[in-house]
This record gives sequence, structure tokens and C-alpha cells, in this order.
Amino acid sequence: MRMKQLKLHVEANRRGSPHGIASYFVALNDKWGIKLYTCPEERDGCMENQSLAYNVGVGPEVGGKIDLPSSSDNEHYIHGYMTKIVKVAGNVSREEAGLPSDREQCNADHGYHTTRNVGRDWKEANQDEINQLHETLEELGFYFYDSHVENIGIDEDGRIVCIDFGND
Ligand SMILES: Nc1ncnc2c1ncn2[C@@H]1O[C@H](COP(=O)(O)OP(=O)(O)O)[C@@H](O)[C@H]1O
Ligand SMILES: [Mg+2]
Repeated sequence: MRMKQLKLHVEANRRGSPHGIASYFVALNDKWGIKLYTCPEERDGCMENQSLAYNVGVGPEVGGKIDLPSSSDNEHYIHGYMTKIVKVAGNVSREEAGLPSDREQCNADHGYHTTRNVGRDWKEANQDEINQLHETLEELGFYFYDSHVENIGIDEDGRIVCIDFGND
């Protein structure tokens, strides 16, 4: 994708894309997306941490660094890097995660259909691997303080990886 096309794609898709406080994530195709930050130093730090993590199998693959031209529409989320897309743990269904259906929970809640325990149950079921992930990241010098299910991914080999490399 050329720079102009990339900029147009991001502008057209940023609003509906997942984001936290620090960054926006815009998918470019099935495999690759771009993570965009307002601050270049923050982008550089996240990119560096993710590269180190990828090298030891606890982060998604990292592509190039890209600074988009600024415009009135992009609210300064212009400092980006390419990342491989992984499945976000928070988007894994109970069925996919091999967790028992939450029908019981549903009944207990008087029919109110809830999936609010998926994240908690998924973390519980994968606690050993998540602990290992924390240890490996700490050995790299990155403390993964915010390890909720929107910040954890599952890569194409089924490994649990960190996807949010922000430090504050
Ligand atoms: N490599 C990735 N693959 C798939 N989705 C991602 C990836 N990185 C980020 N995301 C999505 O974008 C969201 C925001 O990214 P994140 O790094 O957590 O930013 P923030 O630091 O602002 O929380 C994530 O919660 C997730 O839904
Ligand atoms: Mg996050």
C-alpha cells in the first residue's frame, strides 16, 4: 500500500477500530495492521518492546515504522508501526476457549445473557501460560502491568502473547 492509500485507509477505518488510551489499531488486511500513537517516542518504545518479545515468541511479528502525514481528521494518531494481527483473548468466545457454556450463569442472572466472565474464566484456564508470559517479558525488561484480556493475544501457533507494549 502506498503512503497516500495507507493514509486514506486509516482515515476511513480509524473511528471504528479498536483502541485504548495510547493507541489505535487499524487492520490493513487479514494478516497485518498498523498501530498508531500520538507520540513518536511512545511508538518507538512499544515497537522496540514488541520486537524483543517477538524474538522470543511472546509478541506478534513487527513490520516497518511509518509516520503518516498529519491531517485534520487523524487527531495526531500518525506515528505508527506495522504489526501482525493476532486473535485478541477478549474476543475469544467461551466455545472457542473450550470453556463450559455460561447458560447456568445466564439462569442465575434471571435470564440476563452475560458474557462478562469470559475474560476471567479464560485467564483462569490459562493462568500458567500467562504467568510464564509475565516472566519472559520481565526478563526482557518489560513489566506487563496491564494484562487484561484486551491486551493479550493468541498467535497463529496458538501461543499466548502480549499485544500492548505501553509502559504507562
Ligand atoms: N497485534 C494485534 N492484533 C490484533 N489486535 C490488536 C493488536 N494490537 C492491538 N490490537 C487491538 O487494539 C487495541 C488497542 O491496542 P493496545 O496496544 O492495547 O493500545 P492501548 O495501549 O491504547 O491500550 C487492543 O485492545 C486490541 O483490541
Ligand atoms: Mg491496551
